[in-house]
Amino acid sequence: MKLWGGRFAPGRRDPLFERFSESFSVDQRLVLYDLQVNRAYVRALGEARVLAAAEVRQLTRGLDRLRRYVETHPGWARGQASEDVHTWVEARLEREVGPVARKLRTGRSRNDLVATETRLFVKSEILNLESALAQLLASLLAEAKRHRSVVLPGYTHLQPAQPILFAHYLLAYFEMFQRDVSRLEDCRARADELPLGAGALAGTAFRLDRARLARALGFARVARNSLDVTSDRDFVCELLFACALALTHLSRLAEDLVIYSSPGYGFVELADAYSTGSSLMPQKKNPDSLELIRGKAATVLGKLTGTLALLKGLPLAYNRDLQEDKAALFDGLDTTREALLLAARLVRTLRLHPQRMKAATAQGFLTATDVADVLVSRGVPFAEAHAQVGKLVRYCDERQITFAELAAAEARRFIPFWDAKLRAVAASPEKAVRRRDVLGGTAPRQVARQLRAAEGTLETLRRRLPG
Ligand code: ARG
Repeated sequence: MKLWGGRFAPGRRDPLFERFSESFSVDQRLVLYDLQVNRAYVRALGEARVLAAAEVRQLTRGLDRLRRYVETHPGWARGQASEDVHTWVEARLEREVGPVARKLRTGRSRNDLVATETRLFVKSEILNLESALAQLLASLLAEAKRHRSVVLPGYTHLQPAQPILFAHYLLAYFEMFQRDVSRLEDCRARADELPLGAGALAGTAFRLDRARLARALGFARVARNSLDVTSDRDFVCELLFACALALTHLSRLAEDLVIYSSPGYGFVELADAYSTGSSLMPQKKNPDSLELIRGKAATVLGKLTGTLALLKGLPLAYNRDLQEDKAALFDGLDTTREALLLAARLVRTLRLHPQRMKAATAQGFLTATDVADVLVSRGVPFAEAHAQVGKLVRYCDERQITFAELAAAEARRFIPFWDAKLRAVAASPEKAVRRRDVLGGTAPRQVARQLRAAEGTLETLRRRLPG
């Protein structure tokens, strides 16, 4: 069955093109939304006196029966050949309720229908993504709280920079994923408008109460322009951008952990459950889960660029190119949700080696800035202090010794003010951490405050999300 046979000469169609153009294999996922939207639409047609009350009842009953059928038969789509899910529903409805099914698409196009269903799908999937993000946020927060006082080297350019709290490090990712949640919420708010009633492009000629239809389907408002809304897929791009960025954040975390779990660092150890071995080298324990997260971030970025490319230069209004949106959307969403859930578990089961972290803070002259800062408090201009400490670092580096191993007389050759206080500052990464007691800094007091704020954020998010 086709929804458009009349205009075409009878005869066999090219099966290659049939297969090329079908979308049932992908959009069958929207079937419950199709049934829901049709149900609301039939009612609106009744209210507009396009359908008689008895017809509305018949159609509604048929749609409800179909919904129960789909819900109770997980394999409902198997072996079904249909151009798309909308065609399948109409054909099945006719089997359920007879010829009255042929009134279903009065004044309606698949263009406004599919746009409506995709928006409903997106609105609901965003909440699922947010719950996955909430789980990851919870894992990050739990680990940060558990390892409150663990110190590790902070890096820039992957070179040792200044000591930081491990909790502060984890909270940096908490910030990123919290922004991802708020981005998803923005996206949900913009997707929240009703296309149905826009027809194929120009609006329907039947007097539908679209505001009422919007309320019935849970949309915040009616789309103002029928041409725009039937061909607008900004909300798909936005959502895929939010996914791609969340996975970009996740891929940074994954890369950090790949580095931190390599023997040269040895700060963390991945649980066996998230590692794999080598078919050749018996000793190997590889962080494949993290590498796959990094890899899948690339895949989802590809879904975003593919969708943007789909829209670029597309003439108004609907064009069949747009059918490609759903495969990218579904795939991008599923991959993102799974990667986030996996990361949430992986972070929870991470084994930490605080001693290795601490040992690493003794290398790399992480307290050099603090020595210069103390000199500033004694009246040395910062640039001068910077130069003195720099020379001291070069001296130590050439002799392969740390600040702690330095004799006072040696130090005084470069830093005339060198004394016990300066030595203590130079030898204590913990002191360096405590000194960064500025809003947003890594000092324990600040981090404790950030942890409390994070708890509040997570609590609010959880209360807002269903389930
Ligand atoms: N399968 C189509 C899609 O996803 C439904 C809309 C078809 N509209 C059309 N005018 N051929 O875009």
